Amino acid sequence: MSFLSICTTETIKSAALALKNRHLVAFPTETVYGLGADAEDAHAVARIYEVKGRPADHPLIVHIASLDAMGQWAQDISEYAITLARDFWPGPMTLVLKRSDLAKDFITGGQETVGLRVPAHPIALALIKEFSAVGGKGVAAPSANRFGAVSPTTAKAVEEELAPYLLESDLILNGGPSLIGLESTIIDCTGPAPMILRLGAITPLMIEESTGLVALESNPNATRVSGSLDSHYSPKAKVLLDVIAESGDGLIAPDQIPTPNGVIRLSAPSSIEQYARELYLALRKADQLGLGVVVVVQPGGEGLAAAIRDRLGRSAFVE
Ligand code: TXA
Ligand code: MG
Repeated sequence: MSFLSICTTETIKSAALALKNRHLVAFPTETVYGLGADAEDAHAVARIYEVKGRPADHPLIVHIASLDAMGQWAQDISEYAITLARDFWPGPMTLVLKRSDLAKDFITGGQETVGLRVPAHPIALALIKEFSAVGGKGVAAPSANRFGAVSPTTAKAVEEELAPYLLESDLILNGGPSLIGLESTIIDCTGPAPMILRLGAITPLMIEESTGLVALESNPNATRVSGSLDSHYSPKAKVLLDVIAESGDGLIAPDQIPTPNGVIRLSAPSSIEQYARELYLALRKADQLGLGVVVVVQPGGEGLAAAIRDRLGRSAFVE
């Protein structure tokens, strides 16, 4: 059976009802596809963890329709957090705030903070709004991939990855490919200044220009230390960074880099935006082709390029 559903006003309405009836709905956002559940419903949220195969102490982002819903899920919100929300929502940014009573342990992984995001995708926003219309307050959604795997940027990728774990009443809304292709920037707003927990399309410079505060960055190598590095953003193929590709390898590299003989070119982006948009699809393609090795030539520069290098560093093979 297929879980894929094209998006009309009617399907979005029935998807909102499905959420209210404790089912899972995967939906497009501008970053990557999310696997959604009613953020107030412990049973539905537990199913997200089951389907993803994700450890239960990892917190989930609650997706809301507008900044006005921030106060339902969070409290003691700092002025700079509101400034960020005004400047970049809807958009590829998640704010970590002190939780309200509404954000239960099953959402926050037992932490006193909650992650909130207003996605900039018409289908995601329509779904969240329809969900509010039937009494919902927020849609909990991690990226719609199995734990440790590459985030999906198309509905087809969600289906290929999660169909074996979904139930008949679950849905996947098809909204075409995600325009950004990389997960949201996560900013911890509980301290005196913004602290970036995950790099993304909202860059440190944009955060500083918006708030007038210097954005700190949490140690990007933290996962390396905890030893979980090799299990994140990883395809089955071995990812090798900035080496010469050999015959039979896959290659992801900026378009000015030629493809050596016998190498399978997976992506040749001509801009940093295209690099981000195609990266996960190219890594998936490597697995579909059954490649053993994918060589990735990393992009230079700051901003989105730094976010790409952050993901690649985690997906790369370490001995
Ligand atoms: O772009 C995105 O953020 C996508 C789309 C679907 O919105 N979602 C996404 O969710 O990437 P996920 O669960 O795959 O990654 C969210 C990350 C996790 O690493 C989680 O630990 C972190 O956000 N996170 C969520 N709530 C947090 C909190 N309260 N404190 C610290 N980290 C949090
Ligand atoms: Mg994820």
